[in-house]
Amino acid sequence: MKLRDKVVVITGSGSGIGAECARRFTAEGAKVVVTDVNSDGLTRVADDLGTVGLAVDITLEENVRAVAELARRTYGPIDLWFSNAGYTGPPQGGGIGDEALWDLSWRLHVMSHVYAAREVLPAMLERGDGYLLQTASVVALAVHPDKPAYSVTKHATLSLSEWLATSYRPKGIKVSCFCPGPMLTPMLLADVAPENQAIMNSAARPDEVAERLVRAIDAEDFLILDSDIGTAALAAKAANYEQWITNMSGLQTG
Ligand SMILES: NC(=O)c1ccc[n+]([C@@H]2O[C@H](COP(=O)([O-])OP(=O)(O)OC[C@H]3O[C@@H](n4cnc5c(N)ncnc54)[C@H](O)[C@@H]3O)[C@@H](O)[C@H]2O)c1
Repeated sequence: MKLRDKVVVITGSGSGIGAECARRFTAEGAKVVVTDVNSDGLTRVADDLGTVGLAVDITLEENVRAVAELARRTYGPIDLWFSNAGYTGPPQGGGIGDEALWDLSWRLHVMSHVYAAREVLPAMLERGDGYLLQTASVVALAVHPDKPAYSVTKHATLSLSEWLATSYRPKGIKVSCFCPGPMLTPMLLADVAPENQAIMNSAARPDEVAERLVRAIDAEDFLILDSDIGTAALAAKAANYEQWITNMSGLQTG
């Protein structure tokens, strides 16, 4: 899909990759509506781009509906919904994590995408055209040793994307799942110690990521992988799942 003149909603666009994509997609000629629970970041991005935005928690279905209504009222039918908001939570030090974090992770990494699909798919199916893009992570193909709720719910993001693609691609709906490796955003900077040079050196710049996404959306690829970590995990599991589990064992830092 070419982004020119398309109506695009990007969640989690008050910061990081979402904000950078809002800029880049606007430069491509898209009409972008931004939304984030962080109202300061969101206002900055919306003002910079001269567009509309809504500061809401996207884990609530009525808020997803409100964002969609704002987009339709302002620009018309939605062409692309980019479900990008995410939250890693604190390291669990080998523990499995508490109920609140699991609940939030599930609602953010799965249900917010389900709500978006419920909201925009009927009109897209009627037109026989539209695009759903979800951000998961390479963690969806591998495992995050310190963040079980993040790890599991990002697998579920990928699984939901697979289901959406297999169900709706034949009806003209494009579906992609973005599984990035480390990216230099506030999330990574909060999660990784600056002295962890290996991760910092491998992390992609937001402008590189946004450029890659423009090309991937144009190509309408299902799996958008930008890191060897993802391809290596896929290959290792397919070659010898037992060995992969052994290799990944005991990596918790806590
Ligand atoms: N940065 C990385 O290294 C990395 C790697 C793999 C995947 N990801 C994923 O990329 C996506 C973008 O993250 P980022 O790196 O730009 O981080 P970021 O923290 O800069 O951006 C995430 C945004 O999501 C918003 N958000 C969180 N919870 C929300 C909620 N309930 N409602 C609305 N907005 C909410 C945050 O306020 C924030 O602005 C996330 O889904 C993340 O899991 C990031």
